[in-house]
Amino acid sequence: MPHACCKGATSRVYWWVVGAIRWLLGNGFELQQPTSQAPFRCWLLGILLLLTITTSWPTGTFAAPRRARGLHLILPHRNHHHRQLHHHQHTRSIETTIVTLKTNQTEGRDTCTAIKMTPNIAHLQVAHEVAKNTREAVLCLTKEWLKDLGQNLSQDIKAYSKHTLAVRHPLDEEVKNVKFQDELGDFVYEGKVGTLEEEMPAIIESLMVLEHLYETIEFNHKSWNCFFNNFVHFFHHNMHEALKVAGLNDACNPRNSAYNKAYIWPEFGAAVETIKVLTIIEHKYEQLIKQNL
Ligand SMILES: *[C@@H]1O[C@H](CO)[C@@H](O)[C@H](O)[C@H]1NC(C)=O
Ligand SMILES: *[C@@H]1O[C@H](CO)[C@@H](O)[C@H](O)[C@H]1NC(C)=O
Repeated sequence: MPHACCKGATSRVYWWVVGAIRWLLGNGFELQQPTSQAPFRCWLLGILLLLTITTSWPTGTFAAPRRARGLHLILPHRNHHHRQLHHHQHTRSIETTIVTLKTNQTEGRDTCTAIKMTPNIAHLQVAHEVAKNTREAVLCLTKEWLKDLGQNLSQDIKAYSKHTLAVRHPLDEEVKNVKFQDELGDFVYEGKVGTLEEEMPAIIESLMVLEHLYETIEFNHKSWNCFFNNFVHFFHHNMHEALKVAGLNDACNPRNSAYNKAYIWPEFGAAVETIKVLTIIEHKYEQLIKQNL
């Protein structure tokens, strides 16, 4: 039984098709939609991403998405436990219980800190494009998800500003410097960027840690099927492009991570962490492109 939200979403297929056709005719993202079609933008992004994924994905590689075709983006295909959301509980005392987030170790793979790269600078442009598009889609889907819960991003960012999910990964220090700008309704980041050899292992390992985080958090059925399952595909797509930039055929073994198991609203924390990490990655690619011009 598809969830109500997903049934609603299928009616948006019409708008996808109309939108995609108009877009292809050259109207691009400037296309003015009536405000009642606000969710449209997310779904248009979704279909454009699908087109990118299906046209750019070589078969048989490590990071190939489990399902890269058709309407899985909006249709349910995975059951997750039901779970009550914790919003409106943010006045509760701030608990922190840091636990290990164990990562998978695959035999024969180097640890991410020891990978031997053959940098492929020419692929930076594509990787940047994918990071930018998926970041936009994650932000958009997060806003949609909150709207569906009667919440809003700027309010929730403020309400939960004292809480931290404290996910450990190579970009965690930089995550602290990603700021939410109320006027923009968006996150911004400026920071130093090292060489390709320094940055790529950190990008790759952080994406892998995020994927493990999403396997650890229990999303409720609707949140998972209507919103968050897309994020995992976005991780795979970014990972695939990052490996190409690094000139690697295989992923690496990430170190174990850790996170705050007592975080008050894990779904929200994970969504914000994802937007922040992708914001950093987009910025890094942009600077790496400039460095390597
Ligand atoms: C979020 O809520 C605040 C306070 O209620 C309001 O001022 C703001 O306009 C809302 N933003 C959106 C995008 O709905
Ligand atoms: C870790 O391994 C399990 C079991 O093989 C698998 O189901 C899961 O998808 C893996 N997770 C990641 C992030 O690779």
